[in-house]
Amino acid sequence: MSKMKISVGIDIEEVKRFRTAVRDRAFLRRVFMQDEILYYKSKRKNPQTLAGIFAAKEAVVKALSQLLGNRYSVGDFVILHDKTGAPFLIEARTRKVPRLPRGLAISLSISHTSAQALAVAFVQQQ
Ligand SMILES: CC(C)(COP(=O)(O)OP(=O)(O)OC[C@H]1O[C@@H](n2cnc3c(N)ncnc32)[C@H](O)[C@@H]1OP(=O)(O)O)[C@@H](O)C(=O)NCCC(=O)NCCS
Repeated sequence: MSKMKISVGIDIEEVKRFRTAVRDRAFLRRVFMQDEILYYKSKRKNPQTLAGIFAAKEAVVKALSQLLGNRYSVGDFVILHDKTGAPFLIEARTRKVPRLPRGLAISLSISHTSAQALAVAFVQQQ
């Protein structure tokens, strides 16, 4: 019987850091993709949204590193939201749902308060 592989990654971010950083255009461009900035603007430029997106990327990198080693970084992924508001990710390079080795699939969840944003990523073999 083959063992199903699962892994979890979690990250928490201080919203304050993003509240000040949004004034720095170079920072925004370095850390976020255009679709993420547009989404943030659609959410009335709420810094909690940016903090949540960033936390999601970190959580994904952590979860993947458990199974695949340190081959991914936050810049490899774009966090998008479907029409119900649920987050999902695509690969920055291909703009598609990432094709991960060994049929791994990623699920994401984001939450935030005015002070902190938290994200959990769950990686599972399909
Ligand atoms: C999803 C829901 C539970 C979020 O609860 P909340 O306590 O307000 O939000 P939190 O601060 O914990 O988390 C917010 C994040 O949850 C995520 N989220 C939003 N809607 C989501 C959904 N339907 N499913 C999963 N995650 C969702 C987003 O990443 C959001 O961050 P953002 O606002 O920066 O994009 C709440 O909106 C809900 O009950 N929705 C039901 C579905 C619904 O009514 N959808 C309306 C559009 S069809």
